[in-house]
This record gives sequence, C-alpha cells and structure tokens, in this order.
Amino acid sequence: MPKRRYLTTPIYYVNAVPHCGHALTTVVADVEKRYWQLRGEDVWLLTGTDENGLKILEAAQTAGEAPQAFVDRISQTFVRAFDGLDVGYDDFIRTTEERHAKASQHLFQLLRDAGHIYLDKYEGWYDVSAETFVKESEVVDGKSPDGNEVRRVSEENWFFRLSAFQDRLLAHYEANPDFLMPDGRASEVVSFVKQGLRDVCISRSNPGWGIPVPGDPERVIYVWFDALVNYLAATGWPDDAGWESLWPADVHWMAKEIFTRFHATLWPAMLMGAGLPLPKTVIAHGWFVFGDSKMSKSLGNVVAPQDLVDAYVAAGCTREVAVDVARYALARFLPYENDTNFSMEAVARTYNADLANDLGNALNRSLSMAHKFCDGVVPEGQVEDEIVASVMAAKRSFEAAMAAHRVHKAVEAPIEIARVLNKYIDTRAPWTLAKAGSPELGSVVRTMIFAVRCAAALIRPVCPAAATAMEAQLRLPALSRWEEIGDVATVPAGHALGEAVPVFPRVEIEAQPAQAASEKPRPAKQASAPKAGPVEQLEFADFAKVALRVARIIEAESIQGSEKLVRLEVTVGEEQRQIVAGIAKAYNPEDLIGRQVVIVANLKPARLMGTESQGMLLAADDEDGTPILLQPHREAPDGTSVH
Ligand code: MSP
Repeated sequence: MPKRRYLTTPIYYVNAVPHCGHALTTVVADVEKRYWQLRGEDVWLLTGTDENGLKILEAAQTAGEAPQAFVDRISQTFVRAFDGLDVGYDDFIRTTEERHAKASQHLFQLLRDAGHIYLDKYEGWYDVSAETFVKESEVVDGKSPDGNEVRRVSEENWFFRLSAFQDRLLAHYEANPDFLMPDGRASEVVSFVKQGLRDVCISRSNPGWGIPVPGDPERVIYVWFDALVNYLAATGWPDDAGWESLWPADVHWMAKEIFTRFHATLWPAMLMGAGLPLPKTVIAHGWFVFGDSKMSKSLGNVVAPQDLVDAYVAAGCTREVAVDVARYALARFLPYENDTNFSMEAVARTYNADLANDLGNALNRSLSMAHKFCDGVVPEGQVEDEIVASVMAAKRSFEAAMAAHRVHKAVEAPIEIARVLNKYIDTRAPWTLAKAGSPELGSVVRTMIFAVRCAAALIRPVCPAAATAMEAQLRLPALSRWEEIGDVATVPAGHALGEAVPVFPRVEIEAQPAQAASEKPRPAKQASAPKAGPVEQLEFADFAKVALRVARIIEAESIQGSEKLVRLEVTVGEEQRQIVAGIAKAYNPEDLIGRQVVIVANLKPARLMGTESQGMLLAADDEDGTPILLQPHREAPDGTSVH
C-alpha cells in the first residue's frame, strides 16, 4: 500500500471536558488534512484520548464513578466536540483500548529485550497533576514547578535509558532541520538535551488502573510512555502488515508544554531504541491564554468550542457556517511562536473584520452587481490580469504557509483575495461603467465573480461549509482539484448565478472583563499607576553605557529556600549566562522557558542566595509590587541591543 500522509494530534486527558485549547490543535491538524486532500493526497488524521494514569483514576474517584465508566463518558465529550467542529478525523484512539495496550506492552518488551530498560529504585517526587517525576531541586514548598502538589515515591521501578540517546538525538536534529518546529522551540530542545538527559522512570506501582508491565503485573507502564505509543498503535503496529502505509507519521501536532520532555526527546529515543523510523515533523504551538493565564479548567477560564458555535448561531449564521466561524477563529488565532489571547471578544472582532466585512462583502457586492448590471449571468469579458496575479499570489502564500505549518497565515490568503477584490470594486466602480455603458463592464464583473470563486475555494480547508454556501450562491460546483484554483475557465461567460444571501452576518461585540495581568492567577483588581520617584536627568552618554539586550530564557528553576528568586539560563545571541531574578511570586518557572526578555547585560555579576547572577531582567511593578516582565512585542533577534 502506498504511504499515506499521516497527521496526529495529542491524545487528550479525560480528566476534564474539552475546551478551545484542545479544539485548537485538532482543528489546525484538520485544516492541514483538508488542504492536502485538495492537493490530491491520501491523508489520515488521528486524534483521541489519554485515559490511563493516576490523574484519571483520581478524577474518576472524585466524580464517584467507576474508572472505565468515567473515561467512557468523558472520552465521548471529546468525540462530540470534534464532530461538532466538523473535524474529519479518520481514527479516534483511546488508550484503554486493547490495540493500544498491546502495542505499548510490545514496545516495552522490545526495548527491554534490547537492553534499553532496566530495573532500579526510584526515590523522589511525583507530580500527579502533570504526571511527571520532579527533581529534588525543583520542589519548592511541597510544590512542583507547575505549582502542583507533589508526592514522595519510593519504589523499585523500570527505567528507560534515555541518557544513552543524547548524541543520536542531537545528530538527528542536526541532520533533519524540519524534525522539530518552529526553530525557536527546536533550539530550546537542543540546549535541553545538551545539558544531559536523565534516564526516565517508566513504571509505577499498579494502582489497579493502567497497562501492566509485561511479565510484571505489580507495576503499570508510566502513563507518558504508553501515551506516546498511541501514534504507532493506531497504525496497526505491530500486527497489521499495513502499518507501514501510515508510519512514520508526517506531523505530530501539539502545544509547547509536551514538546521538549516528551515528543522531542523521549519519543524519538523510544523509536530509535526499537529500530523504528522517526516521525518527519514534530511541531509545537504556543498557548491560548485568557488574560495572562493558560486557558485551563483549573483556572475556570475556558471557552468551550460549543459556546463559540452557539454564539454565531445566535448571531444569525446557519449552524454549519457557525461551526466554520469557530474553525476559522481557532486556525486564525493559532499561537505559532508566542501565546495568543483568545476570547469571545477577540473572535468577534476578527469575525467582523475578516468574514463579515472582507469576505462576506466581496461575495454580496459581486453577486448583487452581477444581477443589477448583467442580468445575473457571468458576462463576456476578459478576467483582468492584475486580479489573476493577486489570486495566484494568495494561492502561493497559502502553499508556502502550509509547507511551514503556519496555518494561521494560510487562512489569511482567501481573506486577502477578498480585500483586493473590494478595493478593485471601489476603483473600477462598475456602477459608473454601467451608467456610461462602458464595454469594460463585462470584464470587471467577470473578474469579480472569478475572485470570489477563488476565495471560496481557498477557504475550503478551514471553512468547508461556508465555501459550499458561497459556491451554492454562485451556482458553481466546488473545485475539487488545487490546480483549478486561479483558472479563469472555471467562471465561464453565460453561467447563471444565484441570488446573494448574506453568509456572515455582522455580530455585536460585548466587551469581556480581562483578567489581571500576571502569570499566576490573582484576584482581578483595577490597576493604578504605582508611584515612580522623582527622576534625575541623565546625559545620553550615561544612558548609552547601559547595555540592554534581548535575551531568551532557556531554563528556569526556583531557588531552594527562596520564595522570590528564580535561577534562569538565558541566551544573549551566541552567549549563554545565568541570571537570578526576583520574579518567582509572579511567574512559574516553567512558564518562563522560551520567553524573550530584556536584560541589562553589562552589570557587574552579583551573588544572590549564593548563586551568581550575570545580568538583570527588566520588569515593571504593579501596584502591589508584583513584577511584570518586559517582553519585545514581537520576536526580536536574540542578543539584539535595545535602545
Ligand atoms: N495526554 C497528554 C498528551 C499525550 S500525547 C501522547 C496531554 N493532554 S492534555 O489534555 O493536557 O492536552 C494537551 C494538549 O491540548 C496541548 O499540547 C495542546 O495541544 C492542547 N491544549 C490544551 N490547552 C491548550 C491551550 N490553552 N492552548 C493551546 N493548546 C492547548 O497533555
């Protein structure tokens, strides 16, 4: 069987119901799937749920349900959410399925036989909420770096020899620049691996839930080890002879928090150990945040995908188009490098601007003018080169964005066509041409219909129903092949058009209260300007002595015994240095990794709590003296000077 393009999303924990953060990754992967299908490829999309682990067992216990009944119920809410967003997944894997347990045990056995797994004593801390083992140095006040409770674990367990894969991993990253994306996150992985990988504990004592270790029923396989195997299990591996038509995966999609430690290191090392090919691309996007906190159930700031859809049904969209509005918003807001603030209000603004104004108007104006001036028929006339060129440029930018997995950029291409078209209509003023009886009218109106048709075709991967609704009004069949987009022959003169019916009604925007700006949730409070003392004037030459530089945080950990201090490793261009910053009360160390900050780079080193600090971060204070980090408003070259 020929190799299919195989795309995956993370499998989602079933301790909470789906929100727009989960929907984001799955919809983005679906947009990619539909795009490649339009390009004639055979694409397979996998999503699913992660149902083993202590966290799930405890969630079931809290809900007062038997674990299996509990996971069955919550898993269904993910199925419904993705169905409700018209996600064309081809398989939905659940880690409580037999095929998954079998593949996980098989891989465990294979790695143990090959000498990559050994038995040892684990004595240390475990964070149930994040299902991770936590280093002694990372535990502060009984909490993990994520701020979760930790438990002492002292068990004999199985370990995976991850440390032995360090060099092979680095060589693989080096030889395959598209393996880890985007680049910024890939560099974080490289520095993480270069610091030295520790072996990973891959079993837990059996709590009566999970996949037993082969030949050792006293223990279950560590939930992250089994979760990663889902991608392989879904291909039919190890039994089904056809698994190679899917494996290796072309793209593993996820967000940043499960990239470095799991998908970019542990997973490829597991595959290397088993002699299996590695996925082609592992890509991690940023987070949807609300205020400044990650959208998450525990913070109570979730937007459910269904709420988004319902809001647009209430605003007058058909249900199918409302689903597309949600899909468009998720894809358009994809936080590729940085995090993105996601709220109903932000969606409404983008909806009004892109879909209601640009695209909706382009469709309405083109159709109604064709009726008014040309009897509702595509007139004779040449489609203007200038517009053909714009359409082809938009199509190329769609292709380029998709090749780089910049789905948020790709979905702007059809809107760009609509913008160009609206401007074209304003400049060419068909109403004036009609009044003057100009022979150019036919060419202008046919050009308009052509551009609308191309915009509809290009928006199909993200908004399939809206594309169909637009094409229905044009009474033209959907373009089934990518090559047809931009072909003027697809709008033949003489073709009778349908009536214009608004597809995207405008919505009223209600402002939502924003959450107070701090990484750790704090009660919302009106910000008032904290007092700044009197300032003395300074010669420019004195200011110029301060070397301010853009730096990137690549490592962050709390300093034991201090509530305020965190130890950071930052890169300043080629250079790496250690900085101690008093920001622990406002930021979780883990949330700092990957951020760009501004530092004073030429301060004399100082020692804080026994740790040397080779620089200072710039931050403002809020009214309570809580630090607010300064961050470039978009990615700046690392090490660049600030003036
Ligand atoms: N079960 C693990 C993944 C195992 S994959 C082998 C897990 N599950 S999760 O339910 O926590 O889902 C995490 C994923 O959901 C993220 O990596 C991301 O794809 C998506 N998101 C969840 N919340 C999100 C945001 N607020 N913003 C962006 N993505 C979000 O981790």
